Amino acid sequence: MFLTREEEKALDGEYGPGLQLAMRILVKLGDLFGAERLLPVRSAHVSGISYKTAGDAAIGFLEGLCEMGARASVLATTNPCGFDKRLSGLLELPDQIVSAQEKLLALYRRLGLKMTLTCVPYYQFRPERGSHLAWAESSAVVYANSVIGAFTNREGAPSALAAAIAGRTPDYGLHRPENRQPGLLVDFSFRPRDEVELWAAGFYVGQVAKNAVPLLRGLRGLSDWELKGLGAAMASGGMTAMFTLEELSGSRRAPEGLEKVEVGREEVTSTLEKLSSAEEPDLIFLGCSHCSREELALLAEHLRGREVRRPFWICTSRHVRASCPELVRAIEASGALVIVDTCVVVSWVEKLGVDVVATNSPKAAYYLPGLSGVRVRLASLKECVELASSKGAG
Ligand code: F3S
Repeated sequence: MFLTREEEKALDGEYGPGLQLAMRILVKLGDLFGAERLLPVRSAHVSGISYKTAGDAAIGFLEGLCEMGARASVLATTNPCGFDKRLSGLLELPDQIVSAQEKLLALYRRLGLKMTLTCVPYYQFRPERGSHLAWAESSAVVYANSVIGAFTNREGAPSALAAAIAGRTPDYGLHRPENRQPGLLVDFSFRPRDEVELWAAGFYVGQVAKNAVPLLRGLRGLSDWELKGLGAAMASGGMTAMFTLEELSGSRRAPEGLEKVEVGREEVTSTLEKLSSAEEPDLIFLGCSHCSREELALLAEHLRGREVRRPFWICTSRHVRASCPELVRAIEASGALVIVDTCVVVSWVEKLGVDVVATNSPKAAYYLPGLSGVRVRLASLKECVELASSKGAG
């Protein structure tokens, strides 16, 4: 790989062992994927913040980096952690878990990362179209590439952190225009009834598209939050890191000879059957990915005059929560909680004795059984409000 003089010096350790280690990680990654150079990045978004998913190995690695004097050199945001203040009380977490999580956060802070603690950092720090990024968190990656028009690969936690420190990333994959061309035409031959059907279709597309960029035909007029959830679902169904909407690709026609798949009601129904059960939920969770203001406004409207009768957690970022206190008040007047810094997937819901979670997110439905041993009922935002307001069979 070609390195500039400055990069060579950094790799040789002239600027300290922290930057040297970050450069070693990036150069190794670049060599592995055939990159010819490193690119400067505008920001990094780092995952592996929740102690539940990162574990003790992350603490040791970060302690080492701090001792080496490593520090982020570009804007570096953080994914959700394991709890917010309100939840740590509710979950009655053991002291060991609370202090390990706090230690992880303190280490990331020492490395100069911003405590955004959200999977939607783009609502606070929106990258420019065409800018190069090094983001982990698959849902944010697909949003950045597909909706914002920024350029990022789907980084892992260590490579995103290394990019945060070095301010660079190897030039391969989705940083290169030729790899952003559609590789699969997906024809939507049905009209989704709600966001759950749309996102289940997205999950299915993720499964069939593998590494290809899918070009979606037949989807029109989707809102920002619907697109956000569509990308999150695709990224959890498979390795999708970018999609293109034919509606937004102007007059460009699908390239000749593109492989084509159809997504109809049958595919959506079977995806929903695999991910969802029809059981009575003991917890309702919305905000995977973290809610936007638009979603909070919808929720405030649906919850007006209602009283919530089952635990109802709505996850968002500190930034979004602080930007609309009136919506948060309206939602919490019903008894629902607007929670920041975490989500049900990376927190310890199993400590609450929860068996069934209702949510509108196929991504959460995919991960929750394995991570927390709970079953999931997929239901739209509107249905989740109904479920939360009803008493249930028990
Ligand atoms: Fe975000 Fe948690 Fe879902 S990190 S994308 S809300 S699993």
